[in-house]
Amino acid sequence: MADESRLLSDTYYIRTFGCQMNVHDSERMSGLMAEAGFRPVDDPALASVILVNTCTVRDKADQKALSDLGRLRQHKKENGSVVLAVTGCMAEREQENLHRLMPEIDLIAGPSQVRNLILMLGDIRSRAGAKGVLLGRSYDLPEMTTPPAIRPPGVTALVTVQEGCDKTCAYCVVPRTRGRERSRPVAAIVEEIRELVAAGYREVTLLGQNVNGYGKNSGSGESFGDLLRAVNAVEGLRRIRFTTSHPSDMDEGMIAAMKECEKVMPHLHLPVQSGSDALLSRMDRGYSLDLYRTWISRLRNAVPHVALTTDLIVGFCGETEEDFEATLRVVEEFRFDGAFCFIYSPRPGTPAHGWTDMPPREVSVTRFRRLEERLDALILEKNRSQVGRLQEILVERVDSTMGRVSGRSPQFRHVRAGRSSDRPLPEPGEIVSVMVRSCTKAGLEGVIS
Ligand code: SAH
Ligand code: SF4
Ligand code: F3S
Repeated sequence: MADESRLLSDTYYIRTFGCQMNVHDSERMSGLMAEAGFRPVDDPALASVILVNTCTVRDKADQKALSDLGRLRQHKKENGSVVLAVTGCMAEREQENLHRLMPEIDLIAGPSQVRNLILMLGDIRSRAGAKGVLLGRSYDLPEMTTPPAIRPPGVTALVTVQEGCDKTCAYCVVPRTRGRERSRPVAAIVEEIRELVAAGYREVTLLGQNVNGYGKNSGSGESFGDLLRAVNAVEGLRRIRFTTSHPSDMDEGMIAAMKECEKVMPHLHLPVQSGSDALLSRMDRGYSLDLYRTWISRLRNAVPHVALTTDLIVGFCGETEEDFEATLRVVEEFRFDGAFCFIYSPRPGTPAHGWTDMPPREVSVTRFRRLEERLDALILEKNRSQVGRLQEILVERVDSTMGRVSGRSPQFRHVRAGRSSDRPLPEPGEIVSVMVRSCTKAGLEGVIS
């Protein structure tokens, strides 16, 4: 490792693309950098180490990172001593290509290498000026270790509970970038959450590609339901959320924990992807619509006011107009409270890459717009049904100039609320009751009651 006195004067800049998992990996990298004496800066021009944490889930994600890297590469050419490091999912999948395309990059390392960041940076520096390193892939971690993350100040924190994915969805690159599923032990997660509560956080979001598969191949006998119960017992914690769940790994234990644990919020993000069984099968999702239906009705029976959100893909290989209409129908049937829609983007190395029966681009774009229009109308309708009702919100931000607070309802709706009298505004981290007066598709507005 480079000598300490030099590190103390060092600065780093970190740019993050992609999902919450990547956001949290950046928080972990920040923790490691701080421990090694680096100071964060918010302008890459001021940094001695520039980290670009990439995503590669769709082509658009690649393009965003590449255009950023194009600019940073120029900066590196003009400032030879700057270290330019690319991490994250694109770094994992495109190591060789990135190296060939942009030889100025000093370090290209995937998500499983996060914990080795300081060692790798030290290695680059000790070679002072020598050719950059290109690192191998390694998933063979005996146990997932968590460096001390640095999170932005606030009341809500991301906590990784599981990494990797053992599923084989035909379109998806994630199993190739994040490796096999591994779960952190319950005790380690609970310990981290205790520390977060002591530091002032009041809500945690438990993260994994497939959280309800938690523990399934760890041999510990610990299930996701067990984890929820253990986290629910952490004193001082107010709310628990989690994402993402997979329909094939739903179980009664998880639903029972959602019902019984008062801190577990009534919201499930359960990607259905398509409303057509034929497409679900081509996607290799491992469930039928009937199974999805069964779990949703069990969940809604157990947790009556639960919000259900989802992911949907249009334009996957072989999608006919009938398949697409089936997707529109599931939107009506399940009345989702929110959905992320995507146009299928072929990913090299995935099973579906090279399949030739994708609908023409303009057909997919039209379907995407129709789906979004329908979802927007549905979500607005759902939000309208909350007008005139009380919502308990966890205050995340306080704007004292405007006399207003914002936060989330239990169902994860975004809520903004003003004060009704001269009473002082609540502090971040408090739970307040808000009378909803109006809404948009983006959220609810009201008055603190
Ligand atoms: N592990 C999670 C999320 C994976 S990525 C899960 O299984 O649900 C988030 C979403 O991106 C997926 O749910 C899917 O809807 C979408 N997605 C993944 N790969 C895609 C691709 N190649 N093209 C378009 N959308 C994709
Ligand atoms: Fe990708 Fe499927 Fe795994 Fe989700 S479950 S990360 S969509 S392979
Ligand atoms: Fe992107 Fe990797 Fe997340 S591909 S969506 S950053 S798991």
